[in-house]
Amino acid sequence: MAYRWKNDLTRDDVTPYGAYMNRRQLMAGFAGVGLAAMAGTKAQAMELEANSWEEITTYNNFYEFGTGKGDPAKNAHRLTTDPWTVTIDGMVDRPGDYAFDEIMAAMTVEERIYRFRCVEAWSMVVPWNGFELKDLLDLAGVKSGAEYVAFETLYRPDEMVGQKFGALDWPYVEGLRLDEAMHPLTIMATGIYGKTIPKQNGAPMRLVVPWKYGFKSIKSIVKITLTDKEPPTSWNKANGREYGFYSNVNPEVDHPRWSQATERKIGGGVFAKRVPTLMFNGYEDEVASLYDGMDLQRFY
Ligand code: MTE
Repeated sequence: MAYRWKNDLTRDDVTPYGAYMNRRQLMAGFAGVGLAAMAGTKAQAMELEANSWEEITTYNNFYEFGTGKGDPAKNAHRLTTDPWTVTIDGMVDRPGDYAFDEIMAAMTVEERIYRFRCVEAWSMVVPWNGFELKDLLDLAGVKSGAEYVAFETLYRPDEMVGQKFGALDWPYVEGLRLDEAMHPLTIMATGIYGKTIPKQNGAPMRLVVPWKYGFKSIKSIVKITLTDKEPPTSWNKANGREYGFYSNVNPEVDHPRWSQATERKIGGGVFAKRVPTLMFNGYEDEVASLYDGMDLQRFY
């Protein structure tokens, strides 16, 4: 049964495909520039640049393929995504290696139109195709006592050339609290815009948690571990002061280097203004109760 929530977004709100893929070009223009300058005309002009499929798949963050925005597009074709196996282990009833095809046969894929809010203070609306993470965890059977879910990306330096360098600790890791992972808004995406998800965007399966900053969405997942300890996360390990475990979208908790109170909508056109960032990225009614009584300034 498809999950129903108060979704105020329709197909009309979806960021145009070109703008979605081209935002990397937009952001590249800001490198080294204060984010206060983001509303500047340079950005708006760049946003209007026409883009081809070649252009739009040239700008990504996927450090396993290099730290340059164009590196994933150049290098991701080397990644073998078929066959693909996901190991599910730790505190589960049925640990094991699950073939991706076997997972897909058991899951119900649907479209979810979600806001996507980057920690760098831009946002868009994306039509993902995917299934609820809860259904996958139920397939493995979560044991009582499990409190967290740890995720791991593939480690295969022969195919992921960025892994020959130490930009991050490999493999790339992420984590959620179990109740966050079981929330029906949390999905594993296998497609975008009705197409199979491109390799540089995290094929064959990536996490999407719409009330958290985009960097939590770990790509090309090969391992899921149920545990009773808070798992390490790659960006927290790299810079713990700036990137916490929770990373919930919160306009009241600023990044140490910029405000999170407003955001710039990608694809909004020349006259686009910054808009207020919504608590939990607009999913407050759905998820605020997960954090009742927590000090959100402290647990950012
Ligand atoms: N997952 C892995 N394995 N490696 C990465 O470098 N980058 C993260 C996230 N997931 C990353 C990752 C960051 S910083 C962002 S902003 C998003 O992926 C970017 O996803 P996109 O390129 O599809 O927009």
